[in-house]
Amino acid sequence: MVCMKTWLVVTTHVVSVIVVLVNGKSQVPGLYIFGDSLADNGNNNNLPTNAKANYTPYGIDFPNRNPTGRFTNGLTSIDIMACHLGFKDFIPPFANTSGYDIFKGVNYASGAAGIRFESGRQLGSVISLGEQIRNHKIIVSRITERLGSYERSLEYLRRCLYYVNIGSNDYINNYFLPNSSTSATYTPQQYAQVLVRQLSLYVKDLHDAGARKVVMVGLGAIGCIPRFINTTTGSCDNDLNAAAFLFNENLKGLVDRFNNKSDGSKFTFVNSTVGDLTDPSLGFMVFTSSCCPTRADGQCAEGGVPCSNRNRYFFWDEFHPTQAVNTLTALQTYNGTTPGFTDPVNIQTLVHS
Ligand SMILES: *[C@@H]1O[C@H](CO)[C@@H](O)[C@H](O)[C@H]1NC(C)=O
Ligand SMILES: *[C@@H]1O[C@H](CO)[C@@H](O)[C@H](O)[C@H]1NC(C)=O
Ligand SMILES: *[C@@H]1O[C@H](CO)[C@@H](O)[C@H](O)[C@H]1NC(C)=O
Ligand SMILES: *[C@@H]1O[C@H](CO)[C@@H](O)[C@H](O)[C@H]1NC(C)=O
Ligand SMILES: *[C@@H]1O[C@H](CO)[C@@H](O)[C@H](O)[C@H]1NC(C)=O
Ligand SMILES: *[C@@H]1O[C@H](CO)[C@@H](O)[C@H](O)[C@H]1NC(C)=O
Repeated sequence: MVCMKTWLVVTTHVVSVIVVLVNGKSQVPGLYIFGDSLADNGNNNNLPTNAKANYTPYGIDFPNRNPTGRFTNGLTSIDIMACHLGFKDFIPPFANTSGYDIFKGVNYASGAAGIRFESGRQLGSVISLGEQIRNHKIIVSRITERLGSYERSLEYLRRCLYYVNIGSNDYINNYFLPNSSTSATYTPQQYAQVLVRQLSLYVKDLHDAGARKVVMVGLGAIGCIPRFINTTTGSCDNDLNAAAFLFNENLKGLVDRFNNKSDGSKFTFVNSTVGDLTDPSLGFMVFTSSCCPTRADGQCAEGGVPCSNRNRYFFWDEFHPTQAVNTLTALQTYNGTTPGFTDPVNIQTLVHS
């Protein structure tokens, strides 16, 4: 696979690193990733939490059948988008960054994390979005140090791409928990507004730290994942889907507001609910159950033997899509032409505008 080639090892001074990055094949010099288990690539491995995926059968289709902490059988959608963008190696998890690696990007995502601090914490530790932004500020200061000035650092960071995929856990692992205080406090309309208002403050922090090209991913149909599908009728949980829909409406508004600034901001909204992946031509046949045998909490059971026809399954465990789905999502987001999937533009257009 093209994207598995390792990067040139560059250990000389700053100038040569910049030359490598500019002359390299990637369409943006760096990619900074914020989010939850849909993007996590190992940040939770050493945290005390049940929300980690560093055991088999996770990673069964990853190079060397290696469980890395990704919550799927192989690559995540952002792994594949990074590949399309021309990155020759994976973007490293924040938990494992060193030296000049930070220039090509960092993945801060954490399984079970949400926009709100408390989301997902009934499972153990998480790195909430606020903490992910704080970690990014640490990386920004390291970049500034290596480039020697704030202006050069900002100039560099403005050319990079930022990807934010978060919010599912503010519903699944917060609002819709049986004893949730947020659902006692807010209607779904109010909660969507409260979440996106908090998100907009974090995005403003990112923007202040140079982010201008930003991909904001909306929520999928979270009521249709195996965890929440009615096993008797096969129907989706409409309350969850309606709540996700409201979140997406508000998120689209946030994207519009940032695009309205005349400071070079290029934001795009990804509407993961657009398109029909049940179309038989795509080859998926199983939509309501997971490929791997699961634990009571819906993650794969350790050592369980998963389905062998993994390209036929939509879901890997009770929450997360298979690599086959991630591949389609990545292509749609990167250079797809399905109306409304990316709004206003796909990533390829975004990075070249
Ligand atoms: C951490 O980074 C090192 C050096 O880049 C790499 O060899 C190793 O595989 C990484 N470990 C994880 C868990 O990503
Ligand atoms: C909600 O319930 C879960 C599971 O019963 C428990 O672990 C968690 O601490 C509770 N959360 C709150 C806010 O009471
Ligand atoms: C599933 O649907 C059936 C038929 O509508 C209903 O009786 C049952 O309560 C539902 N189960 C759950 C867990 O909602
Ligand atoms: C996302 O797509 C769905 C399905 O086409 C549509 O109903 C919804 O309005 C879209 N959401 C936004 C915020 O554009
Ligand atoms: C964009 O800016 C114009 C002029 O300031 C304003 O009238 C409009 O409401 C703004 N739109 C959004 C989505 O913020
Ligand atoms: C999208 O990008 C992929 C990978 O670079 C390429 O194979 C494909 O032809 C492109 N599709 C479109 C519609 O540009």
